[in-house]
Amino acid sequence: MDQKVIGNDIEKVVVTEEQLKAKVKELASRLEVDYRDRDLLMVGVLKGAIMAMADLSRALQRHVEMDWMAVSSYGSGTKSSGVVRILKDLDRDITGREVLIVEDIVDSGLTLSWLKANLESRGAKSVEVLAILRKPEAAKVDVKVKYIGFEIPTDFVVGYGLDFNEKYRNLPFVGVLAKHIYS
Ligand code: IMP
Ligand code: MG
Repeated sequence: MDQKVIGNDIEKVVVTEEQLKAKVKELASRLEVDYRDRDLLMVGVLKGAIMAMADLSRALQRHVEMDWMAVSSYGSGTKSSGVVRILKDLDRDITGREVLIVEDIVDSGLTLSWLKANLESRGAKSVEVLAILRKPEAAKVDVKVKYIGFEIPTDFVVGYGLDFNEKYRNLPFVGVLAKHIYS
């Protein structure tokens, strides 16, 4: 699929599969150090974080629990609305837990700052954030992302969990979606 998709739908590859693999390893090592002798509950934000959760958790040589939340902020377009709705909540109580939110991308940061405040208000012992990608826009919002994979340009990207109308999540790399696909 790669060659055809890159030519027709993907303008250019922003982060390669190899770069993602290396980064996940590096982030997992940092987590192992930072969370040594501590509890770790990874909260994946559906659906974009599925690849990051699967890869990160397998790279961790320690116990880790995983839970999931689904929030909606985008609808089917390419711009953040700022309105956050919980579509699926956590299965368990997080009082006293050391929570790591795992996100695919921080764009406007609106979703994330809302989510972080929400989880903190439930009495978690700590709430940190890991995002595979961050766009420059995110700098404007006051939300601390402790672990960041790659800083990328503002273009709309897909792959490694990120979608456009539910497609392209399964691409093993991150690429800029060709304009003719959404305009
Ligand atoms: P934010 O609230 O603007 O930070 O964006 C929230 C969500 O929008 C992210 O978790 C993604 O699911 C989605 N999103 C933001 N930028 C992109 C993109 O370039 N491609 C695909 N989804 C994106
Ligand atoms: Mg997301």
